[in-house]
Amino acid sequence: MAQFTLPKNSKVKQGNSFPLNNGATRKKTLQVYRWDPDTGGNPRMDSYEIDLDKCGPMVLDALIHIKNDIDSTLTFRRSCREGICGSCAMNIDGVNTLACTKAMGEIKKNVRIYPLPHKPVVKDLVPDMKQFYAQYAAIKPWMQTGAPAPKQGERLQTKENREKLDGLYECILCACCSTSCPSYWWNSDRYLGPATLLQAYRWIIDSRDGNTDERLAELEDPFSMYRCHTIMNCTNACPKGLNPAKAIAEIKKLLAAKML
Ligand code: SF4
Ligand code: SF4
Ligand code: FES
Repeated sequence: MAQFTLPKNSKVKQGNSFPLNNGATRKKTLQVYRWDPDTGGNPRMDSYEIDLDKCGPMVLDALIHIKNDIDSTLTFRRSCREGICGSCAMNIDGVNTLACTKAMGEIKKNVRIYPLPHKPVVKDLVPDMKQFYAQYAAIKPWMQTGAPAPKQGERLQTKENREKLDGLYECILCACCSTSCPSYWWNSDRYLGPATLLQAYRWIIDSRDGNTDERLAELEDPFSMYRCHTIMNCTNACPKGLNPAKAIAEIKKLLAAKML
């Protein structure tokens, strides 16, 4: 029978509160999803009040401040802190985005932070990305060509062909798009999702790659790509301003052209 309510052990409870008592004048409250597999129990929302004069302007600055100075048990991923590595992707104020490029000043009320949606949670704000990376590996994200490498120099392409990679090579695999896609939520076991499909298109359209037909054939089943229903959440979510929905539409056009 279909279950329309969350199982009891998934309900998010009110958690611990960490108020500020130091006379700070510029304060902000962050409500953060917490779940610890070692202690078990339900997830909870902990509430941290921070002094904005003691921390940088971005949500990631606040999380690092909390971990360093208030509650060292808080767990999250981050590395570059400048929108390059993709590891700090999380759901902030209801939107999937990068904590390091999201300014707290853009959020009027409390900052509510959850892990990326519809992925198993490893701990707190850390989602399990195994399936996402396995799907990325499945599209063979490297150049495949039977042509021998030039004796000197690189494999060249024209300026026009190089420009076809713009809007694709910039993807940092943060998964903000895939985890905001309803089709991916319901079919992530078989639908590759917008991030992986944008990456697939990046190799399909690369003039130096020799396996275009094989790459297209790999996507030609009812689920791998055709579960995209052009809802566009992915494009709205991308913190790098990329357009995965357009990349998917381009793959569909190439497959349609092959059938003519
Ligand atoms: S356009 Fe396709 S990939 Fe993007 S959110 Fe919609 S269904 Fe998902
Ligand atoms: S397309 Fe954008 S949102 Fe999706 S993984 Fe790449 S950078 Fe992240
Ligand atoms: S820490 Fe690298 S993208 Fe945010």
